[in-house]
Amino acid sequence: MKRSRVNQIIREGEAFIRSFGQVLPPFANWSPAELARRRPPGIVDARLGWDITDYGQGRFDELGLFLFTARNGRAADLAAGGGMLYAEKVMISRRDQLSPMHRHVVKAEDIINRGGGTLVIELFASAPDGSIDRQAGLEVPTDGVMRSVEAGGKLQLAPGESVTLMPGVWHAFWGEGADVLIGEVSTVNDDLTDNVFADPIGRFSSIEEDEEPIRLLVSDYDRWLA
Ligand SMILES: [Fe+2]
Repeated sequence: MKRSRVNQIIREGEAFIRSFGQVLPPFANWSPAELARRRPPGIVDARLGWDITDYGQGRFDELGLFLFTARNGRAADLAAGGGMLYAEKVMISRRDQLSPMHRHVVKAEDIINRGGGTLVIELFASAPDGSIDRQAGLEVPTDGVMRSVEAGGKLQLAPGESVTLMPGVWHAFWGEGADVLIGEVSTVNDDLTDNVFADPIGRFSSIEEDEEPIRLLVSDYDRWLA
């Protein structure tokens, strides 16, 4: 996807977030030059920041997600059994914009509708080999209340509602009726290794540089901050 489009999506996304009275942390406003100069390991190594993805397919309006990782813990703390075990993202699913079917190996996540349209989440259980079980129903916690969902069932989350997805639960989601501001509260997260997609797609965008980036994406850090 073109860098000019990424820049535009960042501008639109930030305005959408602000329209709900939410403000991103200070480093959200750092230029690429400022991030390269200051380079805090707590941001760069934790891979905090902007993450605009079309899953490598070049059709952002139909298949894509806006993410901003606001905090991310330490993977080593997981093994140690205590410490900074959590992460938080701000996301936007546009109306009818699919985040494709996937599951996680390590990460449990609460997906929260923070405002806007209805957030639709399609769910499947995992078969013993980890693939999608197209027959078995499943139970998921929604704001402390267990809900039964049939295979491929679609939860409709209104603003304020959330679902807890444990590792292994297959999920895809999109906005219905309007764009949706989403919160994600999760286990410490490694997006390089912990996303298993049903279809052979990527997790990040490949960028065609047609103008200067206004902000670096997390997926730019290895190359731009080397
Ligand atoms: Fe997920």
